[in-house]
Amino acid sequence: MKTLITGGTVVNATGTATADVLIDGDTIAAVLAPGSSLLGFDLAANVDEVVDAAGKYVIPGGIDAHTHMEMPFGGTFASDTFETGTRAAAHGGTTSIIDFVVQYAGENILDQYHLWHEKAAGNCAVDYGFHQILSDVQDSSLVAMDELINEGVTSFKLFMAYKGVFLSDDGQIVKAMQRASENGSLIMMHAENGSVIDLLVQQHLARGETTPFYHGVSRPWQAEEEATHRAIMLANLTGAPLYIVHVSAKQAVEQIAAARDNGQNVFAETCPQYLYLSLEDQLGATSAEWGDFEGAKWVCSTPLRSKHEGHQHHMWQGLRTNDLQVISTDHCPFCMKGQKDMGIGNFSKIPNGIGSVEHRMDLIYQGVVMGEISLPRWVELTSTTPARMFGIYGKKGVIQPGADGDVVIYDPNGHTSIGIGEGRTHHMNMDYSAWEGFEIDGHVDTVFSRGRKIVDSNEYLGRKGDGAYFKRGLSQYLI
Ligand code: URP
Ligand code: ZN
Ligand code: ZN
Ligand code: ZN
Repeated sequence: MKTLITGGTVVNATGTATADVLIDGDTIAAVLAPGSSLLGFDLAANVDEVVDAAGKYVIPGGIDAHTHMEMPFGGTFASDTFETGTRAAAHGGTTSIIDFVVQYAGENILDQYHLWHEKAAGNCAVDYGFHQILSDVQDSSLVAMDELINEGVTSFKLFMAYKGVFLSDDGQIVKAMQRASENGSLIMMHAENGSVIDLLVQQHLARGETTPFYHGVSRPWQAEEEATHRAIMLANLTGAPLYIVHVSAKQAVEQIAAARDNGQNVFAETCPQYLYLSLEDQLGATSAEWGDFEGAKWVCSTPLRSKHEGHQHHMWQGLRTNDLQVISTDHCPFCMKGQKDMGIGNFSKIPNGIGSVEHRMDLIYQGVVMGEISLPRWVELTSTTPARMFGIYGKKGVIQPGADGDVVIYDPNGHTSIGIGEGRTHHMNMDYSAWEGFEIDGHVDTVFSRGRKIVDSNEYLGRKGDGAYFKRGLSQYLI
């Protein structure tokens, strides 16, 4: 199958150009001046399909480097399977995800890794890779880290929160970091002070403060800043590269910026929810259906921050200055009925997570519309840097000859109403949308995954199992 995408504005992280893109089989074969012929060969007459992209952007497929499909968490499972979650991703112009293999304390890491392959294999709409979560860092975990690198799992997430579930103490963290500094892998950190949060949670509950709003209040920015600083110091001690996940506090960004100014290999992502949503408006919301439990729809960790403290402004600023390098979703959806509602009367029992895998490209494109970031920066934050950060750049994250034919045609004049109500789009397996009512300037028109057209004008044309596992190399982003 040969496809020629003509006349679009090709957007890479490095800039924009009007060009034709030839996809041959599963690979981009050429990026050409519009209407050009290849050694006198009439391209348009010799391909299977010509797609007119005039007036539209032609971008490398989105890479969501932080998802949790069917994750076991809080006594239930994230409601998107690899099948439903990756199909929703495809609709939103995301053609690669990196999901987290979960190890709870006591579980065998390599068994879990194989289990995640069983969950994903034959089910995905788009390509996928894995990070590994390390919960109890035993000596066997360190050996497993080395083995997983050979399997293409080159990044390991540790938690400074969720005691008794995921939390590693500082000694365990240092042990894993020492190994990472030797084997070249990347340590990802959930940076919140778990002991402090556990205490505040108990104190709020004891005062009868049980609504979702107190989830946010019990996880203050100081707990995020402190843990971010500690993680940076432990990484500094060991020489390990460090990537802070789901940053929401401006004070955490300042810690990250200072470490980067010192030349340390410290990186970070933020997520759409921290750019647009707030503690007061979401976690404190009420509705006819759910009363003061409405805010459970937005319970995630790190939590949404107060709109009065300037966090969102600082997130956009950090995205411009490259103190924040990546935007992923932390897609971890739970339905209100039967899942989130386990926390009625006790916010600490609400499964943590928001579903956004379908909307990330659209939501971050609004940053371009609002003048917060440039068009190439949109592509860099959502595709190119995730590819480089996690060792898949060249194949992914760029429109250039030799890259996989993961290409999205994005119409800046299109419109997307996101949510689940009448006339709205939503393919995630959730009974609500955290983004209900968002009106998007722009629209994902056509999505190619390794050369196959899998989405065309809102219609899904792919099949489950189209997506393949990619082995990742070591990070290509380190200084
Ligand atoms: O609330 C969240 N973030 N749920 C997913 C688990 C995690 O910590 O990333
Ligand atoms: Zn986390
Ligand atoms: Zn500041
Ligand atoms: Zn997560």
